[in-house]
Amino acid sequence: MLRRIGILTGGGDAPGLNAVIRAFVKAGVRHRNLAIVGVEDSFNGLLDTPRRLRTLDLPSCRGLLHLGGTVLGTTNRGDPFAWPSPEGSRDRSRALAVAVADEGIEGLVVIGGDGTQAIAHGLMTRVGIPVIGVPKTIDNDLAATDVTFGFQSAVDCATDALDRLHATAEAHDRIMILEVMGRDAGHIALHAGVAGGADVILVPEIAWNAESVAAKINARRAVGRPFSLVVVAEGSLPDDGDARPARERLRAGHGAGAIAAAALHRVLDADIRVTVLGHLQRGGSPVAVDRILATRFGVHAANLAAERRWGRLVALQNGAVVDVPLGDAVGGVRLLSPQTDPLVAVARQTGIAFGDEPTAFSAEG
Ligand code: F6P
Repeated sequence: MLRRIGILTGGGDAPGLNAVIRAFVKAGVRHRNLAIVGVEDSFNGLLDTPRRLRTLDLPSCRGLLHLGGTVLGTTNRGDPFAWPSPEGSRDRSRALAVAVADEGIEGLVVIGGDGTQAIAHGLMTRVGIPVIGVPKTIDNDLAATDVTFGFQSAVDCATDALDRLHATAEAHDRIMILEVMGRDAGHIALHAGVAGGADVILVPEIAWNAESVAAKINARRAVGRPFSLVVVAEGSLPDDGDARPARERLRAGHGAGAIAAAALHRVLDADIRVTVLGHLQRGGSPVAVDRILATRFGVHAANLAAERRWGRLVALQNGAVVDVPLGDAVGGVRLLSPQTDPLVAVARQTGIAFGDEPTAFSAEG
């Protein structure tokens, strides 16, 4: 007898979501006797009237592997524990449990970041919905897994942007600042900066000051390199004594790139331009590495559902796809470790500055 399992995508999208859905359906339908129900727009598809659900069979998964976005839709407004309504937020978690039972769905596979996994964990522990989590974020900052799909696609997008900026920076002797995503963690900035030959990488985990960045730029000028590429993560701010909370400063200053440019203008006579890469990093086709990782995650989730191993989160650890307690995904953000991250050391040894160095730079190219 077929068992009905729901699948949904929650929070911000990431390249590879469709590849997970496709792999889950293929493995579940072909090999594990599962009938898959897609829930539209995160948990909303089960809470809206009428419900928005669709059968995901093998034909409906054709052509999904390379598509960005998510065919199921997603949202970051629809927390069943804090459902938005004109009278204030309401707890609709029990209504969700009723809808799941009413649809004959045995359990849910939830593909999402830390916020969505925290909701999934709550649904399991507080209202008894069986759940399996699949981690997702382009930021690659979930502690439970070494890598998330979507990260490499975002890094490649940012690297391509740096390659393009390199040519125009050199043509005009300009300082080009590229703002990339990374609200809390600087993984995208670090990886793209190394891959794209940035001169300076500014991340939230390393306090930086404009004088140090200017010293690096001036050291390059001194050896006949009058242009520079600076990558800044969207959550990175200068250490300039401004005590306002980061979010307030970023809102008032129109983003990390603009704030970095203003700080550099104060200490440097230079032509500076800012490019904000924004959601270009999230859309688009997943690169091969992400398609493969997403496919591995989808198959593992199908195996967990088939074996009724609820309350698990799929993860990649030391190259192997494993599963860990879903609670591990809750609140566990993995930041860059400036002292121990080998790529930070490699970057420094290849002459990339992080804005925390002394202002007396040796001459370099
Ligand atoms: O969490 C991933 C992320 O890419 C962050 O780096 C970024 O701050 C956020 O999504 C933006 O999401 P949205 O515009 O969908 O709110």
